[in-house]
Amino acid sequence: MSVSINGASQVLRPPTDGLPYLRHDLAGRLSTEPGSVVIEGDRIAGFEPSADAAIQIDAGGCAVIPGFVDCHTHLPFAGWREREYEMKIGGESYETIARAGGGIRASARSLAEASDEEVLSQARALAGEMLAHGTTTFECKSGYGLSAEGETRAIRLAAALSGRVAQRTRSTALLAHAVPDGYEAGAWMEEVEAMLPDALAAGDVTALDIYVESVAFDNDHLRRMGELAKRSSLDLRAHVEQFNANHSVPVALHAGARSVDHLACLPEDELAALAGAETAAVLLPGAEFLGEERVAPGRALADAGAICVLGSDLNPGTSPVLSIPVIIGLAVRRYRWSALEALLACTLNAAWVLRLSDIVGSLEVGKRADVLVLDGPIERIAYQFGRNPVAFVFSGGELVHARADCAPRISR
Ligand code: NIG
Ligand code: FE
Repeated sequence: MSVSINGASQVLRPPTDGLPYLRHDLAGRLSTEPGSVVIEGDRIAGFEPSADAAIQIDAGGCAVIPGFVDCHTHLPFAGWREREYEMKIGGESYETIARAGGGIRASARSLAEASDEEVLSQARALAGEMLAHGTTTFECKSGYGLSAEGETRAIRLAAALSGRVAQRTRSTALLAHAVPDGYEAGAWMEEVEAMLPDALAAGDVTALDIYVESVAFDNDHLRRMGELAKRSSLDLRAHVEQFNANHSVPVALHAGARSVDHLACLPEDELAALAGAETAAVLLPGAEFLGEERVAPGRALADAGAICVLGSDLNPGTSPVLSIPVIIGLAVRRYRWSALEALLACTLNAAWVLRLSDIVGSLEVGKRADVLVLDGPIERIAYQFGRNPVAFVFSGGELVHARADCAPRISR
């Protein structure tokens, strides 16, 4: 199948081909010149319109950008926790709710009670909505299993989900998310080490993750998770500095983490080391906004040249948000980022976190044809806050989503 997307007002391209990531102080080097994009089979074939292509798309007034990479979600999970959101609005803290048996534990109970089919059908429906909002690659995490069998099952379900969605997925084992009932945190880390062979055999896991917080694990456990990751040749990722400053970033950097995620409470004097490191700063403005968390220092991280990344953090607790356009809207408003900075953070740099930036994340000849056509310029994504600007979605060269009102733009 060949496709020619013709005459777009903006085509988002990297400054040069082959970049693994682009530091955020250089985001202004991305280009948005008008142009066309041609797809042959599952690859991007060129940037000159092709009259021979079987599908022609009139992209006049549109922007063409790479598919979004959501490198931080908690799929698959079961059910939702809207009651907790009401409690938060009423003034209860995440910590109080968690200590009273809500939070991650509540979702663990829901997961345990749900059948595999129920979990997969909820996740599949969410993946469908994500696709319509432009997400063509996403990460799955375990973390609501809270037992060796439960975590192994979650990883198995993530692998099963991968075969049932149009997106490319990656799987992270978040084996230290909450301390299960009956355990001390240290004893649970022993369990994590013991379960690792079975957990890893259950699916194609590429990273280990841990939640460092007063209600969860501490920096010693983070260090230990780093050792386990190294020993298993997996990446280390970590939920850090979300509600409190625990000084976890230097520990994570020392452990060679691929990413540190959240960072709302990152101490100012720990920012420069992160910005200089080959570790991504994954910011999750959906969780920040809905949880009335502090605002991560997105502007300062970008100015200092960090590898900044945005994710939805899609989960039933802190961020039931699947729309990357909404995440972009929040990042532009609250971090004072440009449209280019926001887009870099949920395309190439997010792909780097998942070790996929040689395949997806930018429009380059030979890369997988995960391509979005937006119905207006990139600057409107944030400006028309809450609206979905995605008109067409190509995943691996297949037209997997076309908005009905944009159908007249297609000719075959
Ligand atoms: O990324 N903070 C830890 N983990 C999730 C929340 C999980 C939940 O509340 O269910 C997060 O925000
Ligand atoms: Fe998370």
